[in-house]
Amino acid sequence: MENLKDLKFNEKVQLLNRLKAEKDAVILAHYYVNEDIQAVADYIGDSFFLAQKATELKEKTIVMAGVYFMGESVKILNPSKNVLMPDIDADCPMAHMVSIQKIKEVREKYDDLAVVTYINSTAEIKAYSDICVTSSNAAKIVNKLKEKNIFFIPDKNLGDYVKKSLPDKNIILNDGYCPVHDEIDASDIKAYKGKVKIFAHPECRKEVLDLADFIGSTKAIINESGKYDDVLVVTEEGIFTELKKKFPNTNYRKLIKKPICNDMKKLTLDKIIDVIENNKNQVNVSEEISSKALIPLKRMLKLGA
Ligand code: 13P
Ligand code: SF4
Repeated sequence: MENLKDLKFNEKVQLLNRLKAEKDAVILAHYYVNEDIQAVADYIGDSFFLAQKATELKEKTIVMAGVYFMGESVKILNPSKNVLMPDIDADCPMAHMVSIQKIKEVREKYDDLAVVTYINSTAEIKAYSDICVTSSNAAKIVNKLKEKNIFFIPDKNLGDYVKKSLPDKNIILNDGYCPVHDEIDASDIKAYKGKVKIFAHPECRKEVLDLADFIGSTKAIINESGKYDDVLVVTEEGIFTELKKKFPNTNYRKLIKKPICNDMKKLTLDKIIDVIENNKNQVNVSEEISSKALIPLKRMLKLGA
């Protein structure tokens, strides 16, 4: 292979396109990855869109430009596909913030319980869950469940947001959180209230969400923000690539302390070229875990659509 670091961006794109055709590969990317990756991705989206899109692809190899739980979900939903991660160490810390033991303890306390698991979780945790959700459909799905008691894992902030939206459910919260969104301080947002529209991701703390005019997944934030002239966007920095591309006439404001997901930023274009060329960083999930985790993921695709 050519020495990648000596190539210009357009030469890398040419090489990537040649490799994709040769290896029958397609690239999915999350909005939080670096701009150059978003530029070469075949599909960009939020976690729900990516999981759903992965089930519709004809290519043999799917490169999941995101964090590990995204690659795992793609593999579980498409076990016959070759799923590659540009950086196998790009992981979401929140995915590990609940234990199987904790699930078992809560299950023992309630007969009428559904374990509702945010897609930002490990395959093992999904295997012990009743249904998965994403930030785009959590309240909608929980509302459709017959169970009154809901153990919402791992994200306490998204769980609390669902709890507020559905007062008739008994939502039991877990102590997990996204270190990037949880760190966003409401006092950095207050000054904007009433002056511009405030758009926030539901992984933010309650005090931040209380100030928001719109709360939604990355994709929902992008779609809705185009209706306004002036918007403060309260989520990870990578979203601005698509926002500016899709709605260049909206004035987007950023927080002074930029929320950055260091794991998403581990991915580079060179790593994507390398994994396709050398079939590296394959995602493998054991048959036992995969068959169990497929059930809550499929239920999510059905109820969340
Ligand atoms: P969405 O893109 O589904 O809103 O998720 C945000 C996120 O944190 C992905 O890791
Ligand atoms: Fe995980 Fe937060 Fe990064 Fe999303 S932004 S991958 S929830 S750490």
